[in-house]
Amino acid sequence: MPFGTLDGVDLHALATHLPTPFYAYSSSAIRERVTVLQAALKDLDTRVCFAVKANPNIGVLHLMAGLGVGADIVSLGELRRALRARISPARIVFSGVGKSDEEIAAALSAGVWKFNLESADELALLQGVAHRQGVVARAAVRINPDVDARTHAKISTGKAENKFGVSIEEARDWFGDAAKYPNVHLDGLHAHIGSQILELAPFEQALQRMAAFWRELEQAGHQLDSIDVGGGLGVCYRPGEDAPIAATDYADAIRRAFDGFRGRIVLEPGRYLVAEAGVLVTRVLRVKRGQEREFLVLDAAMNDLQRPALYDAWHDIVPLHSEPRPLQPYDVVGPVCETGDTFARGRQLPRCEAGDLLLIAGAGAYGASMSSNYNSRPLLAEVLLDQGRYAIVRRRQSFEQMIATEQLPQAWHAA
Ligand code: LLP
Repeated sequence: MPFGTLDGVDLHALATHLPTPFYAYSSSAIRERVTVLQAALKDLDTRVCFAVKANPNIGVLHLMAGLGVGADIVSLGELRRALRARISPARIVFSGVGKSDEEIAAALSAGVWKFNLESADELALLQGVAHRQGVVARAAVRINPDVDARTHAKISTGKAENKFGVSIEEARDWFGDAAKYPNVHLDGLHAHIGSQILELAPFEQALQRMAAFWRELEQAGHQLDSIDVGGGLGVCYRPGEDAPIAATDYADAIRRAFDGFRGRIVLEPGRYLVAEAGVLVTRVLRVKRGQEREFLVLDAAMNDLQRPALYDAWHDIVPLHSEPRPLQPYDVVGPVCETGDTFARGRQLPRCEAGDLLLIAGAGAYGASMSSNYNSRPLLAEVLLDQGRYAIVRRRQSFEQMIATEQLPQAWHAA
């Protein structure tokens, strides 16, 4: 691909139409990831449910829908986005440790395929809501397999100490007590051990534990309809350092673990499908010579892309200069008023000047989705690119939109 282009679109030209910063996502790259994953799983009965939290833009979800991908949702907002993007409710799974009564009721009315339940309390809640609606809900129990995913502590979810899922012992009781929940058809297992996982071993451990439990349940006469292996497949943020697991190796591990399983395997990839397809396009506001370092002050900040501030995450930063320039180290920062607003420290980059265009790579997952209005900065525009064309899938937020739900005190109420 020619330098400075993404999915056939010249980012310099795009930046003349759209003010920076903005997010751009390559449809072709997303399509390719979906195709690679589907090909790796081809002889298995699977359902790929995109983890909406990674990139909830309805344009992206609509692209997923067109590729036959369903959704893994964790809130009413995500449910509504998925439906708006025309993802069939029959392809939606509802995960999350704190589903509210209202969310369960709405998801049940919408006809979502399966609830991934994370506590006995939630099981009882689902029973109550389903009973009121006069329906039988389909559900899976989220197992906490007590596996160390060997990833960043803040995105590790499968250890016994984490808030997610229940132990296999507890799950065994749920199946034993099924008669107590006549409006819940518990016929699935679920696990998700963490995110940005780069080694196969933790996945294999979790899959083996689930498989042993599935076999035990089967022997006890419980027929399972689905096993949901969650998401977590890591991607390459740092070329030469991160070595992601090949989709085929991951699929083989699933195949080995669930040999003989007659139900459906569900996957909930988020990052794997979109992270590397997205970039944050930004400009250098100024080059500031500090007392000890040289700072590149960008027009993008930690509120736009939180990952470096939150997880010390590495994102490649690529200046889009056409001519070669000498390398030099920069601290790459945003305009927000805290030191954590740093994208990179001491990063070797071709010399930059005010007005230069840069891209921050690997920004398609957990980028826009985690952004905020901190420092009263508006949410950014998002653009979908596709083989030389672009479509704006989110306009940049205006000031009026940013404060639309705020008001001066109209009346004071006694409480
Ligand atoms: N399924 C469940 C139940 C999840 O909680 C998650 C992510 C996924 C699937 C998708 O995981 P993925 O395939 O994207 O790894 N904000 C963090 C990542 C948080 C992931 C939360 N759960 C980051 O920027 O690294």
